[in-house]
Amino acid sequence: MKKVLVVYYSQTGQITSVVDSICEAIQSEGISVSRECLRTEQAYPFPWPFFRFLDVFPESVYLDPPALMPLSVSPDDDYDLVVLAYQVWYLSPSLPMTAFIKSAAGQKILEGRPVVTVIACRNMWLMAQEKMKKMLNDAGARLLDNVALVDSQSALVTFLTTPRWLLTGNKGTQGGVLPPAGVAESDVASAARFGSALASALENDLEKIGEPLLTGLEAVKVDTRLIASEKIGHRSFLIWGKLLRAIGPQGAPLRQFVLAIYAVFLVCMIITVVPITMALKFLLKPLLKKGLEREREYFEAPSGSSNNRMKDFLHE
Ligand SMILES: Cc1cc2nc3c(=O)[nH]c(=O)nc-3n(C[C@H](O)[C@H](O)[C@H](O)COP(=O)(O)O)c2cc1C
Repeated sequence: MKKVLVVYYSQTGQITSVVDSICEAIQSEGISVSRECLRTEQAYPFPWPFFRFLDVFPESVYLDPPALMPLSVSPDDDYDLVVLAYQVWYLSPSLPMTAFIKSAAGQKILEGRPVVTVIACRNMWLMAQEKMKKMLNDAGARLLDNVALVDSQSALVTFLTTPRWLLTGNKGTQGGVLPPAGVAESDVASAARFGSALASALENDLEKIGEPLLTGLEAVKVDTRLIASEKIGHRSFLIWGKLLRAIGPQGAPLRQFVLAIYAVFLVCMIITVVPITMALKFLLKPLLKKGLEREREYFEAPSGSSNNRMKDFLHE
C-alpha cells in the first residue's frame, strides 16, 4: 500500500481545513496517509498581539528555525510522497515549517523523497516558494508540484481583512461591510481534486518519474501585478531584518522600539509601493508583456495554471 506523509502547521485552522480536504480524497482511494501537525516549543499566539506579530519578521525572513516539539511520526518510516502544507509569514515559509525542513528529522524524511508543496495564504507567496525550493533542494528532496490557494478578494480589501483576522481573531464571517478574510470555503473544499489526482498518480507509480502530478488542475495562478511588490518588499525585509536581528533577540526592548519605527515604514510601504508598482505595471503593460509572461511561467512552474483536467477530478 502506498504511503503519504502530510506535514503542516496551522493557527486559525485554515491550513488544517485544506489538509483535511486533500487527505480525505487521498484516503478514499485506499492510500495510507500519516499527518504530522507541527508544534513549536514556544507556541505562537493567535490572535497575535501587535508587536509579537511584527517581532517574528526578521527570523521568518532569515529562516532562523525555532525549536520544534518531537514529531509523532518516525523519520525512519518510508513514504512514497511527502506533502508540505504551509502558510506564508513575511514573504517566507512560516517559521514552524522552516524549522521542520531544517531539523535533523525533517532532513531525514525529505532526502531523496518526492514532495508536493501546498500553500494557503493572503496572496503573496512567490518569494516564500523560492525559499522553499532552495531549502528542499538543499535537503535533497524532489519538488514535483506546488499548489497555492489565496484569498480571492482584492489586495486593498485583504490589506484590511487579513490584519483584522490575525490581530483580533475576527475573520469577519458575521455579515459586515468587508468580506470574510482567508481562502474561500469553496476553494478549500475543491482542494480535494489535488488529493484525488495524487492518489491516482500514486496508484500508477507516477511519483517515481519526477514529472508534475497536478498539471491541468489550476494548481496556481500568479498575479503578475504583485511580482514587483514581492521583490521590493523582500529586499526591504532583508535590510530591516538584518538590523533587527543585530539589535537583539525577539522581545528585547530596543528591538521593540525599532520595530515601532519599522511598523510605520511598513504601512507606508504597503500603501505606496504596492499600488504604485501595480499602476506602473498596468501603464507599461504593452512593453512589459513578454517579460511578465516569462515570469508568470517561471513562478507557476511546475504545476501550472491550466485547467484541462479539472473535470476528471471534480468533487460534488
Ligand atoms: C506573522 C504573519 C505574517 C504573514 N505574512 C504573509 C505574507 O507575507 N503573505 C501572505 O500572503 N500571507 C501572510 N500571512 C497570512 C498567512 O499566510 C495565513 O494565511 C494566515 O496566517 C492563516 O494561516 P493558518 O491559520 O493556516 O496558520 C501572514 C500571517 C502571519 C501570522
